[in-house]
Amino acid sequence: MGTEKHLIWLDCDFGTDDAAALLCAHGAASLEILGISTLAGNVEAHKTFRNALRLNRLLGADYPVYPGAEAPLVYPAEPGYRFHGENGLGGVELPLPDRWETPAEKAWDALYRTAAAHPGALELIATGPLTNVALALNLHPELQKLLRRIVIMGGAAVGGNKTPAAEFNIYSDPHAAKIVFEAGIPLTMCGLDVTNKAWFSETELARVGACGTPAARFFAESLKTPLQASGQGTVRLHDVTAVLFVSNPELFTGQLAGVRVETRSALTRGKTVTDLWSDQKFPSRNAFVVLGVDRPAFVRRVSELVCSLKAVEN
Ligand code: RIB
Ligand code: CA
Repeated sequence: MGTEKHLIWLDCDFGTDDAAALLCAHGAASLEILGISTLAGNVEAHKTFRNALRLNRLLGADYPVYPGAEAPLVYPAEPGYRFHGENGLGGVELPLPDRWETPAEKAWDALYRTAAAHPGALELIATGPLTNVALALNLHPELQKLLRRIVIMGGAAVGGNKTPAAEFNIYSDPHAAKIVFEAGIPLTMCGLDVTNKAWFSETELARVGACGTPAARFFAESLKTPLQASGQGTVRLHDVTAVLFVSNPELFTGQLAGVRVETRSALTRGKTVTDLWSDQKFPSRNAFVVLGVDRPAFVRRVSELVCSLKAVEN
């Protein structure tokens, strides 16, 4: 495993698995978080922004956090309270920092500024709807040449979790996703094909919580909400998969494919149509579709990362 340092930017709709993804990114020595942007998705934009600040405090970190889109480009936002609670953190109350303010700079401008300061090096990990990313590309077209790659949690070659055809993040803003998938930036899609295999059992969750630090206890407590909502006694760490794909790519398998996004159909809005298993192929293979994960190794690595987070007095 290399000692390469990845300069990353997290764009999240802090939800429970987004929060878990930030904990893992903070713990991974090979990842350097240059900034965090937030947007409406699992819960409203003002909550996801504050959740990022709350997580900064929990981690004893001071990552710059920038607010972004309050709604998708076209369709209305549809929060996911059932899986994330109304506060987005599974109902777990985390205090805000003693002093904080909302920066004047918006997500799309801060992302562009940071990418321009690190040309060809910044890796964008997006774990919510792609509204901020699409706006950044539209407002700053040269971003297309500045980003090293984009790794998303979103989509599915097969199935869906918002509808039988579509995954929540892409369903929420298919117009934004279409812009991103067609931008010509190296793109990795961690869709339901792999994230549905990246689950924790109740016992595995409790084992992390038993590490006893505030971050480990938060991880275990906040993920109880999606675990209970799943009705399967397990919780899928969808967003964590995108972060672990960057820190530990050896855990995953996948294939390059052509992927297009349906934006109009009432039945299949938000479907990521891939040509993985069809005779007819799209003209270009525009995304690496992640399909497999070594789940036991994933659980071990996530547990190790979360339990390594130092205790911070709350
Ligand atoms: O479909 C799962 C995705 O939707 C995750 O990113 C989760 O946080 C929600 O945003
Ligand atoms: Ca998310």
